[in-house]
Amino acid sequence: MGQFENFYITTPIYYVNDKPHIGHAYTSLICDVTARFMKLAGKSVRFTTGTDEHGQKVEKAAKAKGMQPKEFTDEVSVSFRKLAELMNFQYGDFIRTTEERHKKAVIALWNRLEERKQIYLDSYSGWYSVRDEAFYQESELIDGKAPTGAEVEWVKEESYFFRLSNWQNKLLELYENQLNFIFPESRKNEVVSFVKSGLTDLSISRTSFNWGIKVPGNHKHVIYVWVDALTNYLTSVGFPNTEDEKYKRFLETDNSFNVHVIGKDILRFHAIYWPAILLAADLPLPKQIAVHGWWLNEGEKISKSLGSIIDPTGLAQEFGVDQLRYFLLREGSFGQDGNFSKKNMISRINSELANNIGNLVQRTISFLHKQCSGIVPAVDRNLLKSDESLPNCKAILDQVMDHLLKYEFNHIILLITNISSEANAYIDKSAPWTLSRTDRERMNLVIYKLLEYIRIIGTLLQPIIPKSAEMILDQLQIPREKRDLKSLCKTCVSLGVTLTKPTPIFLRFDVREEK
Ligand code: ME8
Ligand code: MG
Repeated sequence: MGQFENFYITTPIYYVNDKPHIGHAYTSLICDVTARFMKLAGKSVRFTTGTDEHGQKVEKAAKAKGMQPKEFTDEVSVSFRKLAELMNFQYGDFIRTTEERHKKAVIALWNRLEERKQIYLDSYSGWYSVRDEAFYQESELIDGKAPTGAEVEWVKEESYFFRLSNWQNKLLELYENQLNFIFPESRKNEVVSFVKSGLTDLSISRTSFNWGIKVPGNHKHVIYVWVDALTNYLTSVGFPNTEDEKYKRFLETDNSFNVHVIGKDILRFHAIYWPAILLAADLPLPKQIAVHGWWLNEGEKISKSLGSIIDPTGLAQEFGVDQLRYFLLREGSFGQDGNFSKKNMISRINSELANNIGNLVQRTISFLHKQCSGIVPAVDRNLLKSDESLPNCKAILDQVMDHLLKYEFNHIILLITNISSEANAYIDKSAPWTLSRTDRERMNLVIYKLLEYIRIIGTLLQPIIPKSAEMILDQLQIPREKRDLKSLCKTCVSLGVTLTKPTPIFLRFDVREEK
């Protein structure tokens, strides 16, 4: 298990230029599942998310709706918060960059950089993309557009600069020395070659619009929205109060691990600009930048700016929150792009959730009712050991934690569905319906083993599909305090208790009409 006690995980804070889509739900889900596993493993956990509300892009979106930026951001920010609630994300803090506490943090960071002579005033002329809120070098443009395909415009204005170029070697050392600082490795290589090609100083203020945090002492300038947004990771732990308990626990101790989970579109900001700013301001660095791939729709990135939205709220309402969570984690392969298909989603829900896990629970508990009036048989636990062995909890747990630290949720799910397949095969092989007439003692043993299989499956499923897992563990009457990972190998289903009749946990869906 990870060698740390305190775990701090963050989502990007999302632009409020439009409604959330499946990509946002996915990043936050990765954080939620990881945070829940870490909690179950007994760690002290902080999980934060929020909205990025300043900058030209948001200002433009507000104007297009004929609204004041503040009024507009209030409204759209709520839709991100609602999504988090709907998806059952157990976040500890939702940060909005328009909050006072955040402005204080950004200004404090700016002042620290200035005191350390990391900022100077000059003038910027070059290309800027409002959609990406990013500056691009002439050499990066492809057919007159940003490498992301976004429109760029020529900007010439007075600007403050951050001495990014000073930090080139320190950054390379960081990538080299801190194991898995950029994860996965392929993304690290991309960053290393970009940094090696030479860093220029970064323009960190704009004068051509208003919607943002003003540069202290020069209110003509608005602080660059990325400097503003990245600071949220500090705001949430109490910065600029470095005596804050959260700041100390999650950033300053050796036994803490803090990770920023992001999509590959914002790698440069997180893996280059942010650590350079923190180094320059003499503040603690994150331990890891974990970078996932994109969800594509017909091969194209799903995005707000492009208007091709797949609505997670609608999907959750149609198929269930846990079903959507399950599908994204099962189908996504961390670091790689994934294709979103409803047909695929339905087929996984049916075959893996309903027909495998759901069926196991249903047939086992129904059988218990038919044969034992729902009473868990009082088996001799020593016999259990001599029987065909149950899954090896310790080994499974080690594998789960191993995969977790690599964000391999699809592997974790496969481990769990394999246990379920194994249990279903065990029913067929041991044919308890025959034993009910020939050997009731052995039948009891078989039933009990199946209940144990289900307990293990239910416990491991909690972070992935919390509501359904809760239903499973409730059906087995596992006490709440025995549902953590430490209990996995220690506890067992209580003997002699009466279980209620099973209610189906996963519905099946009709696949015919979907593409
Ligand atoms: O970039 N597939 O906000 P944003 C997977 N405000 N993930 C996707 C995705 C897709 N098709 N589309 C978006 C910003 N995402 C800044 C961040 S952080 C200090 C500031 C996810 O609203 C993914 O995590 O454009 C991506 O990095 C993020 O949403 C971008 O969200
Ligand atoms: Mg974006």
